[in-house]
This record gives sequence, structure tokens and C-alpha cells, in this order.
Amino acid sequence: MFPSLAIVLTLGVAGLLGARALTRDDDPGVNVERHEPRPVPAVTKPGGAPSGAGRPVLGAAVEWALLREPGSYQRLFLQHYSSLTPENAMKMDALAPTPDGFDFRSADALVRWALDHRIAVHGHTLVWHRQVPAWVTERDWTRGELRAYLKRYITAVVRHFRGRVRSWDVVNEPLTARGSLRRSIWERVLGPGYVADALRWAHAADPEARLYVNEFDLERFGPKSAAMYRLLRALRRRQVPLDGIGLQAHLTPQWRPTGRELRAIMRRYAGLGLQVDISELDVAVGPGDAALVEQASIYRTVAAACRRLPQCGRFTTWGFTDASTWLGSAQRPLPFSSTGVPKPAWLAIADELGP
Ligand code: XIL
Repeated sequence: MFPSLAIVLTLGVAGLLGARALTRDDDPGVNVERHEPRPVPAVTKPGGAPSGAGRPVLGAAVEWALLREPGSYQRLFLQHYSSLTPENAMKMDALAPTPDGFDFRSADALVRWALDHRIAVHGHTLVWHRQVPAWVTERDWTRGELRAYLKRYITAVVRHFRGRVRSWDVVNEPLTARGSLRRSIWERVLGPGYVADALRWAHAADPEARLYVNEFDLERFGPKSAAMYRLLRALRRRQVPLDGIGLQAHLTPQWRPTGRELRAIMRRYAGLGLQVDISELDVAVGPGDAALVEQASIYRTVAAACRRLPQCGRFTTWGFTDASTWLGSAQRPLPFSSTGVPKPAWLAIADELGP
């Protein structure tokens, strides 16, 4: 399970130098560039369907403007991934740009493309404090008005995608670093009950959909992961429809859990009867080959924790190539380089999650 770092480094650097296709069985002592290209280790491919064998489904956030074009971005995605999260196409500013209705055109095209290619779609996100259209944030709402609008929004969106989008981030980033409820427009105007309301409305609109709360900085012990435990426990006790928690896992060498720490946190959430997925993993590192080795070890820690927990059903990175990341390409946070070459991080993922 744990080849030495030297092997990962050798394979990874060879990969970066242009040997496009390596498997972890390659003998690091030989010149891999002379080998016939072999497929990069697959995780849940081929087949595209979730393995069902207790192995998490591998997913990535995607930009629809890039994915829709036949080309290297699309090819790389289809070669390796079985699930996608729209990086922006299902946020409120995209789906409700004006007060008078919805714009489902891009999201529909994305969902159609995904299902044609047997890719599962994880919906992201119904209630968040960012990417809320200006016409919502700038208006002076009464509590009753905003509550009615949010109910209408969630109901319409979840119904629209019923049967096609099987899981949703219903509430994204509800907590502050200290563990209190974030003072978003939703919390300020609707009060703390908005979390349970949103989950109930989503469940009513599609009783089959798996519903998630999604949050960052839960991967280490501290006030935020403890507060999330209490929030989830309270929701479960009140029988609010909730299926899982998404750990975003935006990590860096400075903000990284140990394996023990991450496993303990994930087990604790799972103990509430929830799925515990990795929903937005990336590891910002900056320049240098050594950084990529450290990055791979962080990816390995997270992949191993997910693989070892039966309730971790989805291992999703926030993008897949350094060419397209919200953090900027210079941070090199993703498993494939800007030119689509597998990095040591990819080899670590494949090693932990692959067959
Ligand atoms: C980011 C997208 O990647 C960017 O393209 C966009 O400009 C801002 O949002 N947590 C989340 C994601 O839940 O929705 C965010 O995505 C990254 C942080």
C-alpha cells in the first residue's frame, strides 16, 4: 500500500518529464521513458460506474465551458473520473440571474453530457453566502419574503434535476472558524433554522436525492470541526433529512491533518449515521519538485482515510488539472499538471483508491 517516497518521486518526476503513462508497477530502476506507454492507473475506470465494492467513486469539479469542448481537458476527465461537481454552473447566480425565473441552459447541457457519458452529477450548491445574485443581496427582504423565495428556489431547482442529480450540497459553508453560524444573508434574515428548512425543502422536492452539508477546514481538530459535529448531531436528533457531510479539504503543507486526526474526525461524523465524503480536495504547494512529493503525501493521507471508511463514498478534487484551478495554476494544487501529465499526487491517489 505504501511504496517508498523514492518510488513515487521517481515515477512522478519521470511523469513530469514526459513519460505520459506509468503504472506503479514500473521498476523505478529502469528508464521508464523507453517503455511503451501504458495506461495511467485507473481508479474507478473503466466502466464509469461506481464500483460498489466499498471503493469511493472518484470525482472532480469541472468547468462546463472547458468540458464541453472536445479536447485534452475532456479526454483527461473521461479517462479517469466517474463523478463530477459543477464548479460554478449550479450556483444561485448562475441558475437565478434575474428575479423573474431560472436559467437552466448551461446546467442542463452539463447534466445531459454527464449522463450520456455515464458520469454521476453531484449538485453544488443550493444555499451559500457567496455567488448569490446581486438582485437577492441588494434587496431589502422581510423574513417571510426571503424564506418564501428560498423555498421556491430550492424546490424548483431540486425538482428540475430530480432523477438526474442524485446528490446535493444543500447548505455550503454554514460555519465560521470559531464554530458559530456564519452571518450570511440566510442566517441574518431567516435565523438559524434556515439549515433545517433548506434540507427539508430539498427532501420534499426529491425524496431520493442524497443531501449534504458541505464545509471547509473540518479536517483538523478544533472549534470548527467540533461545532460541525454538534450541528449534524442536532439535525439528526430532530430527524431533519440529511445524508452526509462533505469535507472540502482545501489543504496546504501548513494546513494538513495527520492520518490519525482525519480518520478520527471522519469516524466521528460517520458515527452519526452519515456519509462522510471528500468533496473539494486540493493541495496548494507552489514551485519545486520537493513540494510535489509533500503534496503527494497529503493526497495519500486523505485518500487512505477515505478508502478505510466505508461511509466515504466520494473522493472529489476541486478540478483535476493545474491548468484550471480557482487557486491559480502557480499553486499547482491538483493531481495532473497543466499539460495533463500525472503528478506524484495522482500516483498516490491511484495507489490508495485503485484496484
Ligand atoms: C469556487 C470556484 O472554483 C471558482 O471558480 C469561483 O470563482 C468561486 O468559487 N468552496 C466552494 C466552492 O464550495 O464553490 C468554491 O468554488 C471554492 C471554495
